[in-house]
Amino acid sequence: MTIEWTSDLSVGIPELDLQHQQLYGLTGRLHDAMRAGDRAAVPGIVACLHELAEAHFACEERWMADLRYPGLRDHRVAHESFTADLACIERALADRIRPSVMIDLAHFLGRWMREHLRGADLPFGRWAVLQPCFARRAARPESTRASTASAFAIRARCFTASK
Ligand SMILES: [Fe+2]
Ligand SMILES: [Fe+2]
Repeated sequence: MTIEWTSDLSVGIPELDLQHQQLYGLTGRLHDAMRAGDRAAVPGIVACLHELAEAHFACEERWMADLRYPGLRDHRVAHESFTADLACIERALADRIRPSVMIDLAHFLGRWMREHLRGADLPFGRWAVLQPCFARRAARPESTRASTASAFAIRARCFTASK
């Protein structure tokens, strides 16, 4: 299974695309750790994924709220469900990591990300760019800079911690 962000996955909003790339990057690292049998690295990578996913979901939902996206409520439920699953996985990893658990985990995360991006984030992006207020929202420097800086800070911490 390949975990790689490609340009056909662009939602048309650079800060969200950047965060999606980071999430894919971390999931790829998890695959690498699994393939290398590096069990010690897995909990740290999952914790980073959890942190980055929460920051990304908050940013994406702010976009949806600002543009008054009618699908926001359902989308938020999907995010909350994934976040709860990640918390469960983290608790399970605190005990003992079996190879079968690592494989299931990597498959689950990769599948969820692909399906959610294609099935929920892309439709939002297609809708968003057609909204009259899209350009004004996209040009708001304070929100885009803050969320991008925050995602970068998380990524920097994650990549340092997992090395
Ligand atoms: Fe989403
Ligand atoms: Fe997303």
